[in-house]
Amino acid sequence: MQGFTVRAAADADMPAVRHVAESFGLLTGWPAAGDFLDAERAFGTLLIASADARETHGFGGTLRRGAVTHLGDLFVLRGHQSAGAGRALLSQLLAGDGPKVTFASSDPRAVSLYVQYGLRPWCPLLYLTGPAAGLPAPPVGETRPEDVAPLDARAAGGARPGTLAWYAAIPGVTPYATDRGYAFARVTDGQIVIGPAGGETPQDCARAVLGALAATTGGTFPHVARIAVPGVHPLVPVLIGAGWRISDMDTFMADDAALAMIDPGRYIPHPDLG
Ligand SMILES: CC(C)(COP(=O)(O)OP(=O)(O)OC[C@H]1O[C@@H](n2cnc3c(N)ncnc32)[C@H](O)[C@@H]1OP(=O)(O)O)[C@@H](O)C(=O)NCCC(=O)NCCS
Repeated sequence: MQGFTVRAAADADMPAVRHVAESFGLLTGWPAAGDFLDAERAFGTLLIASADARETHGFGGTLRRGAVTHLGDLFVLRGHQSAGAGRALLSQLLAGDGPKVTFASSDPRAVSLYVQYGLRPWCPLLYLTGPAAGLPAPPVGETRPEDVAPLDARAAGGARPGTLAWYAAIPGVTPYATDRGYAFARVTDGQIVIGPAGGETPQDCARAVLGALAATTGGTFPHVARIAVPGVHPLVPVLIGAGWRISDMDTFMADDAALAMIDPGRYIPHPDLG
């Protein structure tokens, strides 16, 4: 087992962090400056692990929503896995009190480590991809991040007004709302990413997502959309029934405290921001 030093990522570390992230294809969907790694540094924690002072061998990042810690990333370069770097990063990232959530990959080392930090696998998180047009189109209106922040805090288990404002300022990102739901949509190169989205009830969340999809496409333009949908969410049968495909699958994991605050039936996380 190698010894790994763990410390906060500084500006000078970011090219190396992005090199690790790119080796796992994490930066597709973030074509321009300002990505989820910047968000983790600004609104959470971004740590790097190094076996020697010259190289970055892995990184992990969290985002905060009130008391909730969302573990967004844990990645170790392939040649250095299973040598303790992941555990070393987690022991600092998840050291604090408070509810914790993450989306675990199918790597058994990830699930095993997260269980050892008090999280349990709760439901699948399906990354669904399909045509944005041709679905029911409930009416939505454009809104401001500060106007949906209170409902987001209830749906996501904690407040993150800074993260929402940061995301809404990225070109192509628009928050939409109904009277009982909200959904952020981002358009990049003909692809739409939805999330975060939520509602007072699961159906309210579903209506906001469908409305945001329709508003973004204008009903006709052939966009492809990508949404991370918890398995218990009512959108799963709607989208799969409409021919959407499962492009990837993670496991929504949470500790008991987080599960008391988050109902994955009325919440659609952003794939990278939680
Ligand atoms: C997941 C990942 C971050 C873990 O980091 P790592 O440095 O490889 O992991 P560590 O060596 O610190 O710990 C791995 C643990 O998994 C355990 N493990 C390995 N195979 C296992 C299995 N099949 N079942 C259960 N536990 C297993 C090991 O015993 C070890 O636990 P221990 O410290 O108690 O011995 C890393 O392997 C990785 O980057 N994987 C690919 C990317 C990925 O999927 N990341 C997760 C995103 S959610």
